[in-house]
Amino acid sequence: MKIINLGNRHDASFYAACELFNQITRNPKSKLGLATGGTMVDVYANFVNLLKMNDVDVSNVETFNLDEYVGLSQTHPESYHHYMQKVLFEQYPYFTANNIHVPIGDAADLDDEAKRYEAMVRERGPVDIQILGIGENGHIGFNEPGTSKESETRVVDLTESTIRANSRYFDTEEEVPKQAVSMGLSTIMSAKRIILLAFGEKKKDAITKLASGIEDADVPATILYEHPNVEIYVDEAAAPDDMGRED
Ligand code: F6R
Repeated sequence: MKIINLGNRHDASFYAACELFNQITRNPKSKLGLATGGTMVDVYANFVNLLKMNDVDVSNVETFNLDEYVGLSQTHPESYHHYMQKVLFEQYPYFTANNIHVPIGDAADLDDEAKRYEAMVRERGPVDIQILGIGENGHIGFNEPGTSKESETRVVDLTESTIRANSRYFDTEEEVPKQAVSMGLSTIMSAKRIILLAFGEKKKDAITKLASGIEDADVPATILYEHPNVEIYVDEAAAPDDMGRED
């Protein structure tokens, strides 16, 4: 697994968008694993442009989001449902509503919801391409440090580090939900192909640990070493100091 420095977020985002686009053009019934957060905003902007310019039929494409905050309704401005509507589904309104899957964060029974979501991903999957961001603490999805490799979709407690990092999207830190419904590491690993993106100085530490080659449950993204088809693209600021050059 090689970490590739693409220099800047624009080029890395464009690359990921092209890969999603190519996947759909190869197979109009593709299954896309989608992430939210700041890292993904330019990916979706580029993806939407490619879809519009090429008038692509996405009616049979199926999408599966990684996670949703507990307690936020689908219309809450910071919910991941709302995020996805804003950045993708409203921008290119030709996806089929029943083919869009995001965990329901305000379900009456969250454990049931997590089980339903896991069973649905396993039944309708596997995902062809899963795109991932990474937390400052090395999380993928909301699988925080210490998460078991066997984990499936479930309710998770967010760590202080994640709550602090995500408070930039809320008015106050108190408003950041303390839990999420998240695909597990084993759910994520069931995707056929994974593309992870990391941009900015704040991700450098997590990417440096990911570059170590040592699998460590305290850096959940290191489970990706076990996946046969992973690509990791970073910008200059997130790149480890030693990119493996022998100079
Ligand atoms: C989002 C997700 C998270 C984010 C990660 C980075 O659906 O699962 O793992 O990818 O927290 O978030 P940003 O991109 O906001 O830095």
